[in-house]
Parts: sequence; structure tokens; C-alpha cells
Amino acid sequence: MKDYLKRDEWQIIEEGFHPEHNRITESIFSLGNGRMGQRANFEEEYSGDTHLGSYIAGVYYPDKTRVGWWKNGYPEYFAKVLNAPSWIGIHIYIDDEPLDLAQCKVEKFVRLLNMKEGFLQRSCMITMHDGRQLTIHSKRFCSLSDAEVGAIRYAITPINFSGDIEVMFPVDVDVKNRDANYDEKFWEEITRKITPGHVIITAETRKTFFHVCTAIAWSVYQDGTALTLKPETVQRKKWAAHKITFSVEQGKETVIYKYATVLSSLNYPKDQLIQFAEVKVDGIKKMGFELLLKNHSQVWTNKWLESDITIEGDVAAQQGIRFNIFQLHQTYTGDDERFNIGPKGFTGEKYGGSTYWDTEAYCLPFYLGTAEQRVPRNLLMYRYKHLQKAIENAEKLGFKNGAALYPMVTMNGEECHNEWEITFEEIHRNGAIAYAIYDYVRYTGDKDYLLEYGLDVLIAISRFWAQRVNYSEDKKKYVILGVTGPNEYENNVNNNWYTNYLAKWTLTYTLESLHYMKDQDEKRFAHLVNQLHFKKEEEQHWNDIIANLYFPEDEKRNVFLQQDGFLDKELITVSQLSPGNRPINQKWSWDRILRSCFIKQADVLQGLYFFEEHFDEATHKRNFDFYEPMTVHESSLSPCVHVILASKLGYREKAYELYLRTSRLDIDDYNNDTEDGCHITSMAGTWMAIVKGFGGMRVKDDTLHFNPFIPAQWDSYSFKVEFRRRVIKVRIAKGKIEATLQSGEPLTIVVAGKQKKLQPSELLSEVL
Ligand code: BGC
Repeated sequence: MKDYLKRDEWQIIEEGFHPEHNRITESIFSLGNGRMGQRANFEEEYSGDTHLGSYIAGVYYPDKTRVGWWKNGYPEYFAKVLNAPSWIGIHIYIDDEPLDLAQCKVEKFVRLLNMKEGFLQRSCMITMHDGRQLTIHSKRFCSLSDAEVGAIRYAITPINFSGDIEVMFPVDVDVKNRDANYDEKFWEEITRKITPGHVIITAETRKTFFHVCTAIAWSVYQDGTALTLKPETVQRKKWAAHKITFSVEQGKETVIYKYATVLSSLNYPKDQLIQFAEVKVDGIKKMGFELLLKNHSQVWTNKWLESDITIEGDVAAQQGIRFNIFQLHQTYTGDDERFNIGPKGFTGEKYGGSTYWDTEAYCLPFYLGTAEQRVPRNLLMYRYKHLQKAIENAEKLGFKNGAALYPMVTMNGEECHNEWEITFEEIHRNGAIAYAIYDYVRYTGDKDYLLEYGLDVLIAISRFWAQRVNYSEDKKKYVILGVTGPNEYENNVNNNWYTNYLAKWTLTYTLESLHYMKDQDEKRFAHLVNQLHFKKEEEQHWNDIIANLYFPEDEKRNVFLQQDGFLDKELITVSQLSPGNRPINQKWSWDRILRSCFIKQADVLQGLYFFEEHFDEATHKRNFDFYEPMTVHESSLSPCVHVILASKLGYREKAYELYLRTSRLDIDDYNNDTEDGCHITSMAGTWMAIVKGFGGMRVKDDTLHFNPFIPAQWDSYSFKVEFRRRVIKVRIAKGKIEATLQSGEPLTIVVAGKQKKLQPSELLSEVL
């Protein structure tokens, strides 16, 4: 755990330069706008430890899979979000000495992420080798009001000298991925256009042939007046820059602006990219930095109005939740059905920017609660559109009759993971995709979605489960063999309780939904069963599986067992491990991890969280008490689920401890891996930890329920939820809950077990 960043309600602050943590800071202070983003790299050249990273949603490369022993069924490639052309460079030279924070003496340094208005800021005072001193103040953002735009304000003031400064404004397409399988570079330059006003380069990705056009323009001001400067052009392979020289006077500030636009062939015809980029970059330069920033900040103001969570009395907790919400908005805006939510967003390369089950199991509730219905619906449509590919994925593995296996890792619907036993055998992801349909319909009441799109997906997934089980003569039960559950610290196990439960539930829900369709619209039902060749015998087979699927249980302790044989392990608790052993995934051999009882992330407990209402409280308690002490939470997706269960069970201190862990996972670098990027998908879990955990929010029978408590450390907390065309604000203080209907029709809610009517502009206040 690290503790070098200052606590503040609206900002993340690095005071004093910490080059030893630079990669971590670069991840945490990343910027994004749903379409593009970048790590918090410096504008100047930096020869110290850094991971340069800029990314563009949907622009990827299928890197050929690299393995020792090829197995049938292996995906051909592992998709990678591409480290994309960089527009942020402002390279400074004084008497040919580059301004490089790794080489100069950094006297003062503050790096700051302003979450309220959405920009990255840095102030430093520097002494160069020859004793010249200067200050720099930079501010940068990726615009949320125009997702193709980024801008930088960069001010320099010489402290003890006057003289010439040379500045370069590069566009750099000579970038590479750290995670390239064969150390290749993935970009080829197509064309460049350099005029006195701009530098523009179009580059193409290998294999996928995306075109990305990056155009920059700049201006320089002294005493509020723009300098008229004639740039020289510096050109290298896959790199071009304008170079200017101007005089600076001791004590006087020079302000440099750099404007950029990034356009891609996802949205423009390839042959017109340059024209569009040129017009666009001229337009934004004319608008100027302050207006661009104002428009961008206005979008943030609106986003915070809709989705802020306030916490009084606990700055660390407040900073944590705001950071999580901030990064989620930077990653996904829901405007484009083609995009999804990579586990690292625009903050790093790990997980290749691909879509995982994280979206359905963790992110969907955040968007259900904070965005218009079209946003979570878009997330479901993404999978609906990949259904045919999921059927093909299953066919490649020998499944038939329209059975679908959704990929564990995907960019375009094809499976593209790079680990066999761990990732590939996590077939539970198929269940999460079915569960998301249920979760969406339960929350929104949009049953049309179920009839129009959802059922096709459910039937295909159910067909997969029905073929994936086999009948064990020994057990006289159906079993599911050779899987990996959510707990990736066990591979290739039999009868993972969670997976089996999801399989049974999916079959049941699909049949219920089919019957619902039959009741609603007989003709439509007939058409669907006819089109999908769904026969009575298939339904009978599913019912037989539902009635006879095997679940491992421990009768003595009366708990569900994570998988067959779990009790053969030496059952010890995490508290018995000395701190030097953790995180075990960095300290232990894989062999030792696999045979230990330690659990990476919620597994049986994930099932209890999904299907809470299927089990009584005593069952929740027994299983939580058994599994929580063995859980190391080395997946970011784990603590949030435990917060929700701990809150329900009244384990308030545990819930609070795990809340801090999930919300400050990256800020405090709990798992020692933030340098790879932030854990974006688990950030939605942090939102759930407050709203579903502490706030006890549930939807039952079309009604919102709240069963809240307040952590002892807090004075109050509040959040807003969108629910069926209404916005409800909920505030919980010591001993009371307040709710107001901020927009929409009156609504009945259930607060701590009592039904209450919410009327517009009336404050509902209840003693807890
Ligand atoms: C987790 C998976 C998750 C993946 C991407 C892994 O560490 O174990 O459940 O899908 O990260 O976030």
C-alpha cells in the first residue's frame, strides 16, 4: 500500500515529485473522454521511468497468440488496444539542453487531477544544469464536449535569466505497445501534411487497417499578445514537429497553447480524414483554450449533478468514490454502441482494452443507476450484436444447434484471450451475460427488450449449458467438468458451485421468459420457436437438468463448496499469513497458489450476491463467514461484492474496511499493480458498494427498496439514482434517511421495510 498522494475531496494531488512512483501516478492521473485518452505523461521529454500511453476506443490490433504448446480451440490472436499516436508533446530546449525532469533538479512540484472540472495540472520549479531556473505551469484535458479534441496550456517563466527558448510541437506515430507479443510496432505512416499552421499525420494500423489522423496547431502569447512566429519543420520517420524559437525575459510568463484533434476511420472516410482534421484543428484553435475548457467543464458539471456521491466526515472515502466515478465517466459515455468498457480504460495496456464479463457483472448496475436507459441498453445490444460470433465460437469447440459461448475477452465478438486454463475455461461469463439481461429488465421494467433481443441470447446461452453438462452415472446427477470459476486461483476444476448455479438459473430464466412471451404474444412465440427450432424435447431436457444438476456442499458446515474437493485443502485464513506473503500472486509460485485455499475474488459469494433472494440470511452468513477469511481480494472485482454482503449481514466494520479498499484501490495501490493502469471496471463495483451495500438499494417487484446504514466514520452520505424515468436523491445521516423525487412522476418506495410515497419536491424523512 502507498500513501504519497494528498487527500482532498475533489482533487488527487502529488506534492513533491515521486519519480519512483511515476508509472503509478501516470495511471491514476490519466485523462479520457470515452473516445480517446492518455496516461499522465509529461509534455516535455522525460528520460526517467515512464510508460508513454495514448489510446483510442475501438482501434485495436489482433496480435498473434504466443504459446508454448498449441491446443485445438486456442484463439488465433490476442486483441490489443493500440498505443496510439501521441499529440501531447511540448519539447523545450534552453541552449540545446532539453528540459527533462529526470535530468534537471526539480525544486518544487505539484501534479493535480481536478475531478470537478476534468483536467490535469502541473506546476514545477526547475534548476537546469547551468543553474538557470524556471517555472512551468501546465493544464491539459481531453474534451468531453467534443470527443475528438484535446488541448494544453503550458506556461513558462524564467526566474533568473533572460534568453532564447526553443520549443517543438511533435505528432508522434512511432509508438509501440509494451505488451506486443513479438516486439513489433503496429502503426505505418500513410501520409503527412505540414503547413505553417499545422502538423498532421495519418497512420494506419497493421492487419486491422484503421486510419487515425492526428492534427495539431499551437500559439504562443506574451503579455496577452500572440507572437508571430515562423515555424521550422523537423521531420523524422513516423514523427514530425514544428520548431519555434522566441526570447523570454526574466520574471515574465510566456503561455503556449497546443491544440489537437484525433479523427479515425471508425467515423470518417479514410480519404477525407486529413481535410476534416485540418478544418477541425483550425476551428478549435480559433475557439481558444479557455472556451474549449469551459465547454468541457460544463459537461463535467452536468455529470456530477447526475452521478455525484457525497460523503461528509471522511475525506479519504469521499476522494475514493469521486475518483472512481470520475474514471468511469472518462472511460465510457454510452454514446456509441460499438464501444465497451476495457478493464483499464485509457489508463494502460493490460487486458488489451477488450470487453470482459466485468461489464455485465459489475459495470451495468452503475449505468442503470446513473444514466439514461439507452446507455445500459447499449451495453446489452453490444452482446446481442455479437450473438452470431458467440455461436461460431461455440461451434469451433464442438457445440451445435445454435449454442453460444460468449468470449471471455473480446473486441469484435471473437474470442481473443491469451490464457487457456484460466481465462478460456471461465465459462461462467456466459451466465453473467444472461444475468445482465435479467438485471436490466428487473431494473428498468423494459420487457420489450427481453422479447425483442434478450430471448435470442438467452436461448443460445441455455443451449450451451445444456450441451456443456454431462450426466454422471456415479452421482446420478448432471455435472459440469473442467472449468475455472471467478476465483482464478483454482483452474480446471469440476462443479464450480457458482458456474453450476448460473447454468441452472439461466435455463430456468430462459424457460420462464419463453412462457412469458407465449402469454403475451402467441404469434411472436410461435415465430421464435419455429425460427430457432426450439422443440418440446429440448425444454424437457432443460427441465431435467434443472431438477438434477449437482451442487457441491459441505453438510457438516452447511456451506456451498466452491468446487469438488475444496475441503481437501489446508483450510487456513488470510490473517494467518505474514504480510510478506502478499499479494500472493506476486510472492508465491503458481503451483503453491493453486493448491492453497486462498481465494482471489468472490466466487460462491458472487453467486449469493446475484441470487440473494434465493437464500435465507443464515445461509448468507454461514457462507460469508466461511469464505471471507480465506479471500485475498487480489482481483479488484472482489471487495465490492463482499461489502454488499457484509452490509446486509450487519458486519459494518468489515464493510467499511473493504469499501476503502475498493474505492482507494488505485489511489493507494493496494494490490501493487496500479502502474499497469487503473482498475476501471471495479470502479463501478465501488459505486455498488455504497448504493447497494451501505444504502441497501434493491429492486423487488418493480419497487425500489432502501435498507441503509451509515458507517461510524461518516456524518452523512448521499447519492442519486435514475429509476424508470425518475431521479431520486437519497441522503443518509446518523439515525435518518431522507429521499426526494427530483424529477418524474410520484413513486412508492420501500424504506427500511415501510412503504412510502415520494411526491415531487416533498422531503421524505424517516428515522432509522
Ligand atoms: C479477474 C477477472 C476479470 C479480469 C479483468 C482478472 O484479474 O480475475 O475476473 O475479468 O481481471 O478485469
